Amino acid sequence: MRIARLDSETDFEGWRGHARALLCDGVPPEGVTWQVGAAQDSLFAILDAPAPPRDPAYRPRVSKRFLADAKLALCHRDATRFDLLYRLIHRLQDTPDLLSNALDDDVIRLNAMIKAVSRDRHKMRAFVRFRAVKGVADTFVAWFEPEHRIVEENAPFFVRRFANMNWSILTPERSAHYNRAALHFGPGTSQAEAPDGDALEDLWRAYYGAIFNPARLKVKAMSAEMPKKYWKNLPEADLIAPLIADAQKAEAGMVAAAPTSPKHLADYAFAEPTLRPGDTLAALRREAAGCALCDHACHATQTVFGEGPLDARLMVVGEQPGDREDIEGRPFIGPAGALFEAALAEAGLSRDDLYLTNAVKHFRFTPKGKTRLHQSPKIGHIDQCRWWLKAERTLIKPRVTLAMGATAIRALAGRAIPVGEARDTGFDCFDGRAGLATLHPASILRQADETVAATMRETLVADLKRARMMAMQDQSLSGQNTPSPDRPHWNHALQPSS
Ligand code: URA
Repeated sequence: MRIARLDSETDFEGWRGHARALLCDGVPPEGVTWQVGAAQDSLFAILDAPAPPRDPAYRPRVSKRFLADAKLALCHRDATRFDLLYRLIHRLQDTPDLLSNALDDDVIRLNAMIKAVSRDRHKMRAFVRFRAVKGVADTFVAWFEPEHRIVEENAPFFVRRFANMNWSILTPERSAHYNRAALHFGPGTSQAEAPDGDALEDLWRAYYGAIFNPARLKVKAMSAEMPKKYWKNLPEADLIAPLIADAQKAEAGMVAAAPTSPKHLADYAFAEPTLRPGDTLAALRREAAGCALCDHACHATQTVFGEGPLDARLMVVGEQPGDREDIEGRPFIGPAGALFEAALAEAGLSRDDLYLTNAVKHFRFTPKGKTRLHQSPKIGHIDQCRWWLKAERTLIKPRVTLAMGATAIRALAGRAIPVGEARDTGFDCFDGRAGLATLHPASILRQADETVAATMRETLVADLKRARMMAMQDQSLSGQNTPSPDRPHWNHALQPSS
């Protein structure tokens, strides 16, 4: 009997090295015992000694696909996984297409393990909730109880996603720590070490309660997506039961109210942001960094929050961050941003004059080879993300808002208005403030006809000038901390600008 000793339960490289040596030595699956950690007694140490290779020239065959599968399956909690994987790799030497036999018992077990681990990995990405560590700047801790041993395998995702934070993810068996430079792992911990109830939790609760739409409640689907075992670590979880209990009543109320007071989703799906006295844009930005509510947040690198002076009189809203913005964490710094900045300069403005943000704060894309193709946000994403826009607007109180493109208009108006119509008439933002519309810079970049593109660019510049004039009426662009009760007039803004 050969003893194959692994450093840890997830020691994939160790398993791979042993498997290679065992195959070279012609050891059958029933001739090996897999053990984790140091030898228990001297008998094992003797048996542990590797046998001389049967055929030094022999090279085991293994596909990349099997290695990737084995790496995932190794995270499964099933104690027999090392045996299963060695049996499979052993059989693959004579039956290279074994993995395509979906009826084979070993393949069935492998696939079931991969599925369970992948699901657990997805749940961790969706349900890890970081909490700010009191008194330590930019440092966050999350407690999570995974079903399988996925912490190491999943940690690089959190590094990409929360690159600008110091964070720790604590679990009962393993912990992962990131200090904005390096990732390292430690032993498991108890839940007592994860700080509880803080401002971030309140925010999550408010956010979750605000986006809960009783008319869409599907308890079965919800429980499948968010199994109850995860509820106890989610700050918003204690809202779920009362929300479900009230759902029928609330839905009936909504239906009854519909004929007399038609509502847009924005009217009921989003509560007022629960800003606390002293809340700042920086705090809001930090909180938004942990937002993972939309289904594409987990694929994006980070939340791209708005930027600009707190007293900006003009807010400009785009659609969503693009590839560059997603990587660097700032709005409009890619090709559309370059065009936008040039247009701003022509309109007598600079980025410092305005608050610049997006309707949706996470990049939505489809991977294609090595590139990420932009995908427009869906209405649900716009509506979900409006909470942050609303919070930004509550702090900035812009006198004028310029929506660039259909998504921004939808986010600000709470309903779809054609860009041309919104340009002509202006519109009311959901908070009653004045909204203007213009073309999205990316639509100008996409225009193949150069003459049309030039005209579109002139339109953008003219609209920026108009927004500037409206925002300035009587004052400079910044310096307004309290909203002016008198709304600017569209006609005034439509006068030819200087
Ligand atoms: N397009 C947008 O709408 N926003 C950005 O931040 C970048 C490109």
